[in-house]
Amino acid sequence: MRPKVTVVGGAGNVGATVGQYLVAKELADVVLIDILESVQHGRALDLLETGPILGSNSRIVGTREYRDTADSDIVVVTAGIPRKPGMSRDDLLNTNARIVGEVVDRITAHSPRCILIVVSNPLDAMTQLALKRSGFTRERVIGMAGVLDAARMQTFIAQELRVSVENVHACVLGGHGDAMVPLPRYSTVAGIPITELLPPERVEALVKRTAGGGGEILALLGTGSAYYAPGASVVEMVEAILKDRKKILPCCVYLDGEYGIHGLCVGVPVKLGAGGVEQIIEIRLTPDETTALHRSAAAVKELVDILKL
Ligand code: LAC
Repeated sequence: MRPKVTVVGGAGNVGATVGQYLVAKELADVVLIDILESVQHGRALDLLETGPILGSNSRIVGTREYRDTADSDIVVVTAGIPRKPGMSRDDLLNTNARIVGEVVDRITAHSPRCILIVVSNPLDAMTQLALKRSGFTRERVIGMAGVLDAARMQTFIAQELRVSVENVHACVLGGHGDAMVPLPRYSTVAGIPITELLPPERVEALVKRTAGGGGEILALLGTGSAYYAPGASVVEMVEAILKDRKKILPCCVYLDGEYGIHGLCVGVPVKLGAGGVEQIIEIRLTPDETTALHRSAAAVKELVDILKL
């Protein structure tokens, strides 16, 4: 039997893209749930019809009914309003808190043993909301942002140095906002830190472009935010969990003293496997890097405090 993955917000661009990659990789049977009349059904049927072409037997259905999500192994929460040009992720706070809160209540009632992957923005605050609202342990509530931010940085590094993306590793810590912390010292090409390969001003430019990566797409699309890379990022996390890969990926998790941060969800490297977050990896930071991480965490804390979480 294939595992079951539900995507909440399945009519939306990020949700449907998650469905697309899940089906293409035949990783799971998929439920796209949304509040719309028929769009999620159309998305699901269209994706189902890719099966014969791609050689995938994954089943994918659209629904409005939470009972159809019952006993999911993983639930991906993309519900909420996306950013429009000119909006920050934080502008979405109150609307998306209401939506994500309701979604988590209904999901956990039907899938009490699932692992939650949160994608809605503002990402870190929504992850913390989902953690508190679900009552799940921190191992089972994971925010997707670091994989996306690192993928953006890897893309820019590969372009800059004209090397294969496969040779590039990037490390991004902190909240998924303007104060995120790309770490050049831990970002490498074939094991060599980019600080050894590029002059400081080029490194700085890559760091800046990474932090503004979501806004760059938003401005280009004009109508909404990114979805291909966010969707692919979610699926990398889903695959690591379903295949028990023990893969180290930057994810948003609840820190309980790690990195000197207490009681807050922010992005750090973790090991993802069948149990969800199986380890939080503490890498050694310089005083400047620690300051930057704490500054980013403080921005998350402001939002979490507004929501009284
Ligand atoms: C981005 C949005 C989805 O970074 O947060 O593209």
